[in-house]
Amino acid sequence: MMGGTPVHIRPMKARDLDRVCEIEEEIFPCPWSRTSFENELAADKCAFPWVVEKNGDVVGYLVSWLVEDELHVGNIAVAPSLQGAGVGRELFAHCLGTAVERGVTRATLEVRVSNTRAIALYESHGFIPVALRKGYYSDTGEDALVMLKTIPSRDEAD
Ligand SMILES: CC(C)(COP(=O)(O)OP(=O)(O)OC[C@H]1O[C@@H](n2cnc3c(N)ncnc32)[C@H](O)[C@@H]1OP(=O)(O)O)[C@@H](O)C(=O)NCCC(=O)NCCS
Repeated sequence: MMGGTPVHIRPMKARDLDRVCEIEEEIFPCPWSRTSFENELAADKCAFPWVVEKNGDVVGYLVSWLVEDELHVGNIAVAPSLQGAGVGRELFAHCLGTAVERGVTRATLEVRVSNTRAIALYESHGFIPVALRKGYYSDTGEDALVMLKTIPSRDEAD
């Protein structure tokens, strides 16, 4: 738990989308559309979208997918005024912990090579760089770093 008011992490709901889209548009040069988030809410078989609240307000979110035993993190963001205060770390740890409870053995994500803050967060959770996707981001042509975390299955861990 971070200092000050504790955060509350829960599944994303349709009522969160105004605030989620506001944060998304404030942060990202190529923001996800509202329809993209709506699709995540509808894709209940594999999509796990989360929000994090502080003092009852949505201050961040994370979209992930669970396919078989693999977790893929597609999006994570924290409102600019609260970045650097531990909210992203709690949200990321929550998503990972829930996936591990469900038997995930690998987790993957892509991140801009210049995003040192996010890369540091992922590395501190045991993700390692495994590949580079050249020119992956269409806005700047920046490369994406593909990161992977392997998690021993419960059978292997016993
Ligand atoms: C990336 C992001 C989700 C992290 O959330 P956050 O709440 O700001 O991060 P936290 O305060 O929980 O810090 C997590 C880790 O990030 C790193 N970090 C945080 N602030 C940092 C800074 N100013 N400089 C460098 N690294 C920093 C550290 O490794 C930190 O770990 P620590 O707590 O052991 O120091 C958030 O900064 C964000 O929304 N950024 C813009 C959107 C984005 O880049 N999303 C990721 C796309 S892949």
